[in-house]
Amino acid sequence: MDFYDEIRRFWDADAAVYDDVPNHRPTDAGELSAWSATLARLLPPPPARVLDCGAGTGFLSLLAARQGHKVTALDLSAGMLARLASHADAEGLGVDIVEGRADSPPPGPFDAVMERHLLWTLPDPAGALRAWRRAAPMGRLLVFEGRFGTGDPLARALQGVGHLLGRLRGEVTGHHAEYAPELLAALPLADITPTAVVEAVVAAGWPDPWLERLRDIEWASRVAQRPTARLLGSPARFVVTAG
Ligand SMILES: C[S@@+](CC[C@H](N)C(=O)[O-])C[C@H]1O[C@@H](n2cnc3c(N)ncnc32)[C@H](O)[C@@H]1O
Repeated sequence: MDFYDEIRRFWDADAAVYDDVPNHRPTDAGELSAWSATLARLLPPPPARVLDCGAGTGFLSLLAARQGHKVTALDLSAGMLARLASHADAEGLGVDIVEGRADSPPPGPFDAVMERHLLWTLPDPAGALRAWRRAAPMGRLLVFEGRFGTGDPLARALQGVGHLLGRLRGEVTGHHAEYAPELLAALPLADITPTAVVEAVVAAGWPDPWLERLRDIEWASRVAQRPTARLLGSPARFVVTAG
């Protein structure tokens, strides 16, 4: 099977559970407000033309559309995009939806390109970052990522305990499945680090990269968690902006 077909099939299947995981689509008012404040601070003033790459069920797209931006949501998975469309409809928000690969974005030009939790699953993140620069030659880049414990055995063990406790309570705690080891091996940023993101952004021709830890979002998320989940820790989140 083609590499991208395999990725697409994974996310088409994951669309059934993706939004039920609190980490993916937070519903706590405080946490949502922390995300909104961060996006409002980092995006150009509305109405800007914003491209959301690997938009999934639309967490960032919907936040930006609520702030008055003209959002184009690009994703490989029709299943994930169908969820995005239904969320947008439910709120009466207009979002342009494009099914396709992140390394072939619509031509734009865009005032900003953003992504959350996509770079780790690209076989050629540098190629995608270069394509985004071409689509936003004068624009801004926002890369939202997190250290989800893949490379750190202690964080991974604690995450496993947290997932087990959640499942015992009947909660959905993660994806419907894991990527196969052969698939993970083909992804240069599978164990994503802030340094690797900054280096990839610079190599792709984006000027002036800034790295920030997203402490407000982490804090709001921790406060919203049950005490047991809080004790087990939560992933370090960061954003790299450029342009
Ligand atoms: C972890 S989800 C993140 C979704 C969303 N950005 C969010 O923050 O909730 C990764 C998304 O990237 C999409 N994706 C994976 N590889 C892609 C590619 N090569 N081109 C476009 N989208 C891709 C998947 O379909 C999935 O919706």
